[in-house]
Amino acid sequence: MAINDKIEQIMSTLNEFKATKEQDIEELRVKMLGKKGEVTQLFDEFRNVLPEQKKEFGQRLNALKNAVQERIDSLRESLADSAAGSASSFDLTKPGDKMDLGARHPISITREEIISIFKKFGYSVAEGPEIEDDWHVFGALNFPPEHPARDMQDTFFVCPGGDNPVLLRTHTSSVQVRTMEKMPLPIRVICPGRVFRNEAISARAHCIFHQVEGLYIDKNVSFADLKQAILLFAQEMFGPETKIRLRPSYFPFTEPSAEVDVSCNICHGKGCNICKGTGWLEILGCGMVDPNVLEANGIDSKEYTGFAFGMGIERIAMLKWQVKDLRHYFENDVRFLKEFETVI
Ligand code: PHE
Repeated sequence: MAINDKIEQIMSTLNEFKATKEQDIEELRVKMLGKKGEVTQLFDEFRNVLPEQKKEFGQRLNALKNAVQERIDSLRESLADSAAGSASSFDLTKPGDKMDLGARHPISITREEIISIFKKFGYSVAEGPEIEDDWHVFGALNFPPEHPARDMQDTFFVCPGGDNPVLLRTHTSSVQVRTMEKMPLPIRVICPGRVFRNEAISARAHCIFHQVEGLYIDKNVSFADLKQAILLFAQEMFGPETKIRLRPSYFPFTEPSAEVDVSCNICHGKGCNICKGTGWLEILGCGMVDPNVLEANGIDSKEYTGFAFGMGIERIAMLKWQVKDLRHYFENDVRFLKEFETVI
């Protein structure tokens, strides 16, 4: 039989072939592609083809071999489909696959906990835009014009240049400015939100993170009030035995300023690798609102005083659950998130 006729015969066998079980398909495979299979034999006969016809036949044979393989694959697929179909139509009472429930993200859990603590102290929540202008992020907060935070290297600009560039807020202190602009005194707010800084991503830093900042302005607000508020917060958050210590620091918008440490909740002050042997962990920055900031926002600094504080939610969550790498919070690996399923 001529090779062309043989090819046609094989194609029609293929098209008409019906399989009811896997074994039928395997028999077809051996019959066509096995060592003595019909297609294999055609390849053997290829030797005898005239040289000028070799190219055309070669192409036809390869196409044939592919067609056979595709037919076998599709027969297998439809057999598997109908097996699955008939299995499910057999037992409709079978219980369904268990659905995995989502859990709250550790950053949300921590944010809600911080908010609920300050709400108990009488603070209300204020929110503001993530895309801000220079005035609300820096100008109204007493940042001098040449301050490095105003540099491209530290801050992401949306529209740089001009008198009041547009940028991504680097802290939620901008919401405190917006609150001072529109809220009657006294003010007692916390400002949770996402902030952005032009930092290289590592285990301890990220270009996006979350903060809760707080502001309290009234007559006769003192540094003692600030210290008491922070102590109560720390004890609610990390346990009633928690102690705090304040170290002098500097922020353009507060004077005096301090950084606050809490006693290490792992070793209780003895020194461990979480607190690097010091017994203390830094949790936030704070201070008395600088009179320049009050005046810039239309508040009489002779009559009113206030305090402000700000903390990173990732940092608080890291200390609470001993998470060693900040990047876990952003990767959303389900194995990590599942560890918080049972929290709240
Ligand atoms: N805004 C400061 C920061 O982002 C934190 C802070 C807020 C410090 C209020 C003092 C008072 O780092």
